[in-house]
Amino acid sequence: MKRKPMIAGNWKMHMTTKEARELVSGLLQEIGDVDTTAVDILVAPPYTALSAVKETLSGSPVLLAGQNMHWEEKGAFTGEISPLMLKEVGCTHVIIGHSERRQLFGETNETVNQKLKSAFSHGLAPILCVGESLEQREAGRTTSVIEEELEKGLNGLTTEQVQSMILAYEPIWAIGTGKTASPEQAEEVHAFIRKWLISKHGEAAAEKIRVLYGGSVKPENIEGLMAKENIDGGLVGGASLKADSFAQIVKRGS
Ligand code: PGA
Repeated sequence: MKRKPMIAGNWKMHMTTKEARELVSGLLQEIGDVDTTAVDILVAPPYTALSAVKETLSGSPVLLAGQNMHWEEKGAFTGEISPLMLKEVGCTHVIIGHSERRQLFGETNETVNQKLKSAFSHGLAPILCVGESLEQREAGRTTSVIEEELEKGLNGLTTEQVQSMILAYEPIWAIGTGKTASPEQAEEVHAFIRKWLISKHGEAAAEKIRVLYGGSVKPENIEGLMAKENIDGGLVGGASLKADSFAQIVKRGS
């Protein structure tokens, strides 16, 4: 049984409010003929553009996510954003533990775990990112790194929570580099993740969880990736910044 695919666009630190409106309007036109009962489409704009994007999306099934959040509802955390704030502007999802957050902003598996718990308690569906660096891959540590990210990241979560979340496998060496993992390389890790989920949460729950692939996803490579049994969609960075390429990925990936 294949799960309903999800194509998610992570805009990172791109798009002013004006540019965001234009991108989303273009995207809605391009995906006008897509059967959205067969694919979930999601965008994660920067915080300042969330309201404008929500407004532009009005009435469309495209889902809205934050790119990160703090686990507290409010407080003296300069520069942070809270789950309540994301909910208020219409987010249903939130990306947690993206490798750029981990590598550049000091996020750990422990803070990721706090964020996941907070997302669940506020009714936001998390998209948890995991993935190894080139150095870790070359040292043969890919699965042990991912296992640790899963063990610590999902620590204390119930099966009910885990089965409602989305995972994203994003090999760090493939992000923004133009070097995609081959469908076989990606599937190997996706299958490992599925096996881990089965061992911790049982087959029924594990079979429901979508595991997206991220790292230089493009219109040209999405079909090969989606053909693999355990790849349930894409988390797209660079190619989500143009309406036509993101729409092509949605169409070819569903
Ligand atoms: P990329 O980014 O598609 O530009 O490689 C993916 C991501 O970081 O989510």
